[in-house]
Amino acid sequence: MRVTLTVPATSANLGPGFDVFGLALDLCNEVTVDTETAPGVTWEGEGADELPTDGSDLVSTTVARIADQMGAQPPAFALHGVHAIPLERGLGSSSAATVAGVLCASLLLGLGWESDPWSVFAAAAEIEGHPDNAAPAVFGGFTIATPDGFVRRLDPHPGIQPAVIVPPSRVATVDARAALPAEVSRADAVANIAYAALAVEAFASDPGLLARALRDRLHQDVRVALAGVEDIVDALEGAGIPWCVSGAGPTLLAFEHEGAPPLTPALLGVSDAWRIIRPGVRAVGFEVNLLDG
Ligand code: HSE
Repeated sequence: MRVTLTVPATSANLGPGFDVFGLALDLCNEVTVDTETAPGVTWEGEGADELPTDGSDLVSTTVARIADQMGAQPPAFALHGVHAIPLERGLGSSSAATVAGVLCASLLLGLGWESDPWSVFAAAAEIEGHPDNAAPAVFGGFTIATPDGFVRRLDPHPGIQPAVIVPPSRVATVDARAALPAEVSRADAVANIAYAALAVEAFASDPGLLARALRDRLHQDVRVALAGVEDIVDALEGAGIPWCVSGAGPTLLAFEHEGAPPLTPALLGVSDAWRIIRPGVRAVGFEVNLLDG
């Protein structure tokens, strides 16, 4: 069996939808699994020089974990990853690896989940722990993931034009979560419910509402400070460009639109070490491409 798995980057939270909303971005990792060649793990692209090649990577450990749960032994396989998603930047690289691992396990063990996205989502969300990343990686588009495992996917409006502003530095999700207060006030909870409801309308029907909807009182202030991107946020707001923290940060997700100046390093006051990527929205989630056998 030779098969290539394509899994998109994702931006979770989208401002007020903390742990709930997600958007699939057309920036994808590809993982090729081959049972007909010598086993091993190789990487190209983002993080290639730092990802492990001894089977302790997230794709391989996900395969091992599912095989263990099933009491099954997968055949030996070679794994080759071509990565486009920056690591530890809030763009869902861990979820993408976990979804690839779940698909890989399904194919190697004959589970049939590759044609059952709900099974892929359930396994990936349980293993990786962030359903707001797993949902768009599996279903594409704009997703609402509820804490009880339900997902509603919506088609984003064609006027939704995501641009990710990726810093050279990283923040681990676990640290960005640990920095958040454990409790929130009722007033803050109510504000987030209001902004989140408006955000669904903004993403699905009326991008003109984004600036008003992408507000948050639960996590963004802490994470903007943690990432040290206050000046960039000021520049975005000064230019009238709606923005939010992508996932747990430090990347910012901005939405360019007619009437606002284009995002450039000069506008944001950042060095060339920062990347501005305009991936577009990805309508579909993972894809499985059987190469032969
Ligand atoms: N909702 C999660 C968080 C996303 O903000 O911590 C992590 O990618």
